[in-house]
Amino acid sequence: MLERPPRILVVDDDPTFRDVLEMRLERWGYQVKVADRARRARELVERWRPDLILSDVVMPEVSGIQLLNQLREDEPGRPVILLTAHATVEMAVDAMKVGAVDFLTKPLNYQNLRAVVEEALARHRLPDKEEPAPRRKRPASTPESDFGPFIGSSEAMQEVYELIRSVAESDASVLITGESGTGKELAAQTIHELSPRSSGPFIAVNTSAIPRELMESEIFGHEKGAFTGATDARPGCFEMANEGTLFLDEIGEMPKELQPKLLRVLDSARIRRVGGQKEVTFDVRTLAATNRDPRDAVKEGVLREDLFFRLNVFHIQLPPLRDRKGDLPRLARRFAIEFSKKHGGEERRFEDETLDLMEAYDWPGNVRELRNLVERGVVVAREGRIRPEHLPPYLRNPERSPEETGSFRFPEGASAAEVEKELYLRTLDATGNNKAEAARRLGVSVRTVRNKLNAWKIDR
Ligand SMILES: Nc1ncnc2c1ncn2[C@@H]1O[C@H](COP(=O)(O)OP(=O)(O)OP(=O)(O)O)[C@@H](O)[C@H]1O
Ligand SMILES: [Mg+2]
Repeated sequence: MLERPPRILVVDDDPTFRDVLEMRLERWGYQVKVADRARRARELVERWRPDLILSDVVMPEVSGIQLLNQLREDEPGRPVILLTAHATVEMAVDAMKVGAVDFLTKPLNYQNLRAVVEEALARHRLPDKEEPAPRRKRPASTPESDFGPFIGSSEAMQEVYELIRSVAESDASVLITGESGTGKELAAQTIHELSPRSSGPFIAVNTSAIPRELMESEIFGHEKGAFTGATDARPGCFEMANEGTLFLDEIGEMPKELQPKLLRVLDSARIRRVGGQKEVTFDVRTLAATNRDPRDAVKEGVLREDLFFRLNVFHIQLPPLRDRKGDLPRLARRFAIEFSKKHGGEERRFEDETLDLMEAYDWPGNVRELRNLVERGVVVAREGRIRPEHLPPYLRNPERSPEETGSFRFPEGASAAEVEKELYLRTLDATGNNKAEAARRLGVSVRTVRNKLNAWKIDR
């Protein structure tokens, strides 16, 4: 029996975008129909029964997310890929909640789109009746690859996704641990977005970033005149997170003397501002994170054991990147696409040799380090290829530590501006992004370093 080409429905209110997409998809051999709004899309779904839907998120009347919700109620299981100009964690999680199989940002990278479309069709296309479909036998709750804003399909990450899903529904405290840059904050945001509190605020307080003397008032709030400089009353982060989620980041850095108060507040769900008389109640779910082993922190007397138990009702441990290197190429490619868009120019691709070097590296700074490194690669890569020389020297030469960057050769024909950029980035790599030290080594002011990075739109 001859199989008909897969049918794809494109839903977008922008006619140009629709036409371009239709042309592309047809060139790839698909049957395509287009709809300019959700209502029309639903009619077509019923009459024409597409195998896959590509839908814009932001549309007048009914959004892509709402459309997807309606379609899923009518008939679950049809894959939908959402397209959007501005991806946020919140949107990625919403998309996942309503069952989108993927989430692409505009302007579209067509190479990537093609791969995603093929994968979605291969995986979800309704099987012919007599054919068994082993893949669809997986329980619906088992995520198959990425998860909302998370990239990576390794087994270690699947476990994390499963945990995030299951704790999101409850109101229990969750302690998120993992090395620096493994995605703890991303996990916290995702839990919030998937929880019944998602319409409330998500407030993150980084305990290590607040000066000690301000910590108490940041967390618990203060009344006017509570201390010198308290010219106004201010709510603390518990009050700000009311009806939402409070994320206590770097909990191991919380001053010991504040820990009993924090515990009391958590237990009673009541708070009294610094210098205040009356107690107010609040309704907050707490998530906490630390990049060290919390049990060690307890043993060393840095973290009170009772507070640890209070926060550690559930525990999610994020794996270091070196333990899930299988995810690296996908992460690297997705970041390269993202940063190519940000910095303009054609999409940068990795040469195989570059990926080999990246896979051989240990990634002490985990996904954050990888992101930074891909961004730098995208910025310095010429001809659209990220080659080994676009990596920092310590990746190319593993025996050398990041500190001994030594001398390097610039690619022939590089302009002075490119060489300058490269030099700044290498110096920042070598100093672990310490701008003051980088400025010293470069013989410029810290302000110059900041200004250059701003001009290059690089965030270190
Ligand atoms: N699995 C992942 N997929 C995509 N992006 C990720 C993933 N994990 C982390 N990131 C990204 O890496 C960066 C670092 O993540 P995040 O801030 O959540 O790490 P962290 O564990 O809180 O680090 P730290 O301990 O240094 O605070 C962020 O830009 C985040 O979006
Ligand atoms: Mg963090």
